[in-house]
Amino acid sequence: MTLSSMVSVSLGERSYKILIQAGLLGRLEGRLSELAVKGKVGVVTDRHVAGYYLSGMLQQLKKCGVDAVPIVLPPGERSKKLDTITNILDVMARHRFERSSFLFALGGGVVGDIAGFAAAIYQRGIPFIQIPTTLIAQSDSSVGGKTGVDHRLGKNLIGAFYQPKEVWIDPLTLRTLPVREWVAGLAEVIKYGIIADEEFFSYLQREMPGLLKRKPDIVAVAVKRSCEIKAQVVAADERESDRRRILNYGHTIGHALETLGRYESLIHGEAVGIGLVQEADVACFLGACDRSVVQRIQAIVQAAGLPDRMPQWTAAKIWKAMLHDKKVSGGQVVGVWPERIGHVRMMPIDEPTFCQWHQTLPKPNSGKSLSRKKPVQRKR
Ligand SMILES: NC(=O)c1ccc[n+]([C@@H]2O[C@H](COP(=O)([O-])OP(=O)(O)OC[C@H]3O[C@@H](n4cnc5c(N)ncnc54)[C@H](O)[C@@H]3O)[C@@H](O)[C@H]2O)c1
Ligand SMILES: [Zn+2]
Repeated sequence: MTLSSMVSVSLGERSYKILIQAGLLGRLEGRLSELAVKGKVGVVTDRHVAGYYLSGMLQQLKKCGVDAVPIVLPPGERSKKLDTITNILDVMARHRFERSSFLFALGGGVVGDIAGFAAAIYQRGIPFIQIPTTLIAQSDSSVGGKTGVDHRLGKNLIGAFYQPKEVWIDPLTLRTLPVREWVAGLAEVIKYGIIADEEFFSYLQREMPGLLKRKPDIVAVAVKRSCEIKAQVVAADERESDRRRILNYGHTIGHALETLGRYESLIHGEAVGIGLVQEADVACFLGACDRSVVQRIQAIVQAAGLPDRMPQWTAAKIWKAMLHDKKVSGGQVVGVWPERIGHVRMMPIDEPTFCQWHQTLPKPNSGKSLSRKKPVQRKR
């Protein structure tokens, strides 16, 4: 695996390239001239990312004659709300951004989702570039065009499908990511193995120690293969009418836990880690897969250092939070259940069945986990 590669997202006139290159952020001239980026550019980022990467980017933009307007947000999920969008639109309008002005999203999934949505609605859509700097964003959220913000009652309730013009991935930026964020990102990467590629899943299992040490060649494989799978799924179903729903594996329970924890006790990838294991357990309860599938998923989630046990909310509370998600149809939640590693199917579940399954969970402090093995301690 070279440390420089390209993945295409084929969506007709909305097709775009994902460039994965170590050091890409330090040499943007070629990209800027190929995409004819000129005039005003907004660079949306958050305070943490700005501290590491903003001045370098502004210098390069200046050198290329681009008039950059930095828009620095407070870090974290709490910024993912409509007020932030209003503020970004204010800045763009005040600086007289035009329809051809670019917006750059320099940061993690939060920055990407926010900036993408602002780009989608300013003057009915201006070009934007995703420059993801977290593992979640490089392996998942920067690709596929889902943009938006949260509502008090549910995650990502407000948004638009809006594709970027290009995705620029510089894996070197992952070196500054805090451990907790790194580990959280592994949940999305593992998800790709479970939903689409058994061989990739086995690779991740085998190479987990190297992945935890962020070895560049292993990270490059993990990011590229995740992007490839996401690009294929999105190309087949851009607006999530069917196949794209497989990407929600781990997120039905995951999003509910994230909302119940007010986006603080569990960050996105941690909630998804629990979702990967617990949704496999539901699948097993529904008879969709063998227990060995649950055990394999639990083992890799634990090896990554992700949490895997259900927090102490009641089944009714979790179900209610799940109903605010977008995967609901006629009061039933459409879940994604693994049949085996590398293959999932979609099937609705109703409240009584969900509550029956919840009853089967090990009681708090019983010491029992789904595979009857002691769970590993969560890394912080
Ligand atoms: N649009 C999609 O398809 C999609 C897919 C998956 C997740 N998401 C969304 O993505 C969000 C989660 O993304 P995230 O985990 O990247 O969160 P994030 O953007 O909040 O980033 C996590 C933290 O890491 C910091 N950070 C980012 N890059 C860094 C770097 N290189 N060095 C040091 N610190 C850095 C950030 O400041 C933040 O504190 C959630 O809101 C989720 O809903 C969207
Ligand atoms: Zn996710």
